[in-house]
Amino acid sequence: MKLSLTELVERKRHGERLVMVTAYDHPGARLADAAGVDLILVGDSAADNVLGYDSTVPVTVDELLVLVRAVTKGTERAIVVADLPFGSFQVSDEATLAHAVRFVKEGGADAVKLEGAGPSLSRVQALVGAGIPVMGHVGLTPQSATMLGGYKAQGRTAAKAQKLLTDARALEAAGCFAVVLEAVPSAVAERVTEALTVPTIGIGAGPSCDGQVLVWHDLLGLSDRKPARFVKRYADIGGEIKRALETYAEEVRAGVFPGEEHTYTIPEEELDLFTKATEEHEHAQHGDG
Ligand code: KIV
Repeated sequence: MKLSLTELVERKRHGERLVMVTAYDHPGARLADAAGVDLILVGDSAADNVLGYDSTVPVTVDELLVLVRAVTKGTERAIVVADLPFGSFQVSDEATLAHAVRFVKEGGADAVKLEGAGPSLSRVQALVGAGIPVMGHVGLTPQSATMLGGYKAQGRTAAKAQKLLTDARALEAAGCFAVVLEAVPSAVAERVTEALTVPTIGIGAGPSCDGQVLVWHDLLGLSDRKPARFVKRYADIGGEIKRALETYAEEVRAGVFPGEEHTYTIPEEELDLFTKATEEHEHAQHGDG
């Protein structure tokens, strides 16, 4: 049974924390769903984690759409949120709606996420007005990292913390069903969380948020980048994969793989017929008289 958006607010009211993780493919979505994760974000972080780009900026709607479709096909219970990539919501409300509709209609997403407040507020209203649930995202918004002075914590002065709170409130008022707080001091995230009725989902925003999100590759040890301060690695899947591939390579080179148990047989009499047929063919070709 799909989790409902109203249930998320209920969970906040009862102090039950929400779990969100990014996923970018069908097997990942199935595992996250089976593990009881509440929300799966097909983040634009696919850009650097999956597609090899240097930042999240270059990834396109078409590229993310393929991943969103794979994730929704692998998910039954979790709410699937598609990230609106850079360029897909900056131009106008109409263009934003057209892109979000693709994620919902072609990708099967339950909701979309967009970064920032300010001009993003009218986008949120347009999307919610069209019946598309929206998750907000404030604090460190990687798509505008250059404007923010790099990938660093936000809201660390009273004025900036106040702005963050105002933005989060405005996103809630515009209709967001949840707001991501990224790289924000814990004390500021706590105030924002208290001020909102809808859940906050933190990443680098401390334990008081209503939920937490981590990026798949960071959580599972699949990334070779230096992890951010707020990342906790729960497994070394990258190491496991490398060890498995090395063993496979060794076994192929040593002739150990494939073993008899990995091969098919042919009935003896069919093999004899095959041998005869090839011999006759050989004789005919070389004309041995
Ligand atoms: O794209 C992403 O992975 C995100 C999370 C960091 C929230 O936006």
